[in-house]
Amino acid sequence: MAAPDGKALFPNEGDHLTLPSPTVTKERSTPGERKITPKPKPYLQEQGKSLINQLSISIRIAQIYDRENSVFLKQMENLFNLVSSLLEKEQVLNINSKQGYLFVNEARLKFSLDGYVASKFIMETFRKFGFESLLIDTPVSQQEIDEFIFILAQANAEGEDPFERLQNKLLSSNLQHIRIEKFASDWEMGDDSSPENQKKQAKRRFFKTISVAQEMVESVKTGRSINTTKSKRAIQFLIDQLIKNETNLMSLTAIKNFDEYTFAHSVNVCILSVSLGARLGLSKGKLSELGFAALFHDIGKVRLPLNILNKPGELNEEEWMEVRKHPVFGVKTLLSKRSIDRFSTRAMVVSFEHHLKPDLSGYPPLSFKKGINMCSRIVTIADVYDSMTSGRVYTKTPMIPDEALRKMLQEEGKAYDPVLLKVFINMLGIYPVGSVVILDTGEVGVVMKANPVELSRPEVAIIADSTGKKEKIDTVDLTKTDEATGKYTRAILKTIDPRQYDLDIARYIY
Ligand SMILES: [Fe+2]
Ligand SMILES: [Fe+2]
Repeated sequence: MAAPDGKALFPNEGDHLTLPSPTVTKERSTPGERKITPKPKPYLQEQGKSLINQLSISIRIAQIYDRENSVFLKQMENLFNLVSSLLEKEQVLNINSKQGYLFVNEARLKFSLDGYVASKFIMETFRKFGFESLLIDTPVSQQEIDEFIFILAQANAEGEDPFERLQNKLLSSNLQHIRIEKFASDWEMGDDSSPENQKKQAKRRFFKTISVAQEMVESVKTGRSINTTKSKRAIQFLIDQLIKNETNLMSLTAIKNFDEYTFAHSVNVCILSVSLGARLGLSKGKLSELGFAALFHDIGKVRLPLNILNKPGELNEEEWMEVRKHPVFGVKTLLSKRSIDRFSTRAMVVSFEHHLKPDLSGYPPLSFKKGINMCSRIVTIADVYDSMTSGRVYTKTPMIPDEALRKMLQEEGKAYDPVLLKVFINMLGIYPVGSVVILDTGEVGVVMKANPVELSRPEVAIIADSTGKKEKIDTVDLTKTDEATGKYTRAILKTIDPRQYDLDIARYIY
């Protein structure tokens, strides 16, 4: 059997397996771009402006009336309804005031004359208290909205450090789903007009998410509560980035030689899971939950002894017994969060199930039969793939990407959901990004971008010509044909292990 372009799935190994046709139609636009159904958000512009207006009215009313007054209560109800309807679509609301503009999430609001006064008032409020970002997270309550507006309206911006004083008041009021931040983070509004800038933005978001993952782990270790607003926001940015340009983020997951690989692993699993979820047509809300759960899938490992986690050699049986506790530790850690919402419940399920196989073998051992949640089945595949190709988590020697996929296919059905696995392979291509390949021209290349239509013809950066010269020469599309003969100019002969040739693929991906 053959892949869609007539080649055996793993031609260099003579394997005979068939891939399903892609489940989601990919738009192939300009070379270098691959998209997952971009969704414009006109509602953000309209509802964003209403939000600014309602915020402005609410603060002014709260400056005049007391908290029990019916005018205040009625206005708070209006504001809460608007916030809730936006949160249903966006999960986290990030209102920024920056360089004379207001933004709601990534939409820059354009005010006409009638909205001008409200926008100026809100910008002035942000300015005088010295914050650039107001974050509202799901599931914010009516009570929290009332409390926040009341505190903000009554706060005094005169004197030293008004930000600090306001921040302290908000923190002591136990507002779990509303926070202010001094600076709007620079990962939101970069210039992404050129492919080069898009690449930079993807990189910045990738590393920022790694630092969020690192921060979460530190919080758990030191007994502080997990700041899930930050992680939800990070995931939202990753999803937006994946919608804009999937290739850039996906290629970053191919780099495994980070010092702090543990955190990069969580982010890689998050990116791979969300990309797979997007191909299954999950809504943005569901993708956020999936991404969140993926980011936290191994959170239980913070409770494992360091000597086991960092052991350079193979683990003995006793140490394995400890490692097998991390899914349950994960649930316990997430349960200790101050508030439980649908994100944390989803994350608990995924933490518990991500090492369970479809036949319920794996761990933790179960004394009852149950189906495995789809998010867990997705995360399992992304987790195993990233672990195998990194050689850091469960095996000490990294596998090359196509070898890892082949191994996973061999266990298909027993260890993984077979349909999800096929969609996953279809997504990565039979030569995943970061694979090092030998071409029939004698050249050596690094796969930069999968081709969802012709799986064996990805885009490849040529890093050595047939004489063995090691230089990045050009990126070529293997679907290119010779004008005169109509034949393909290049084809992949086989994949090689970059370590054997002392190649650092990160150099080509950055
Ligand atoms: Fe795990
Ligand atoms: Fe993992």
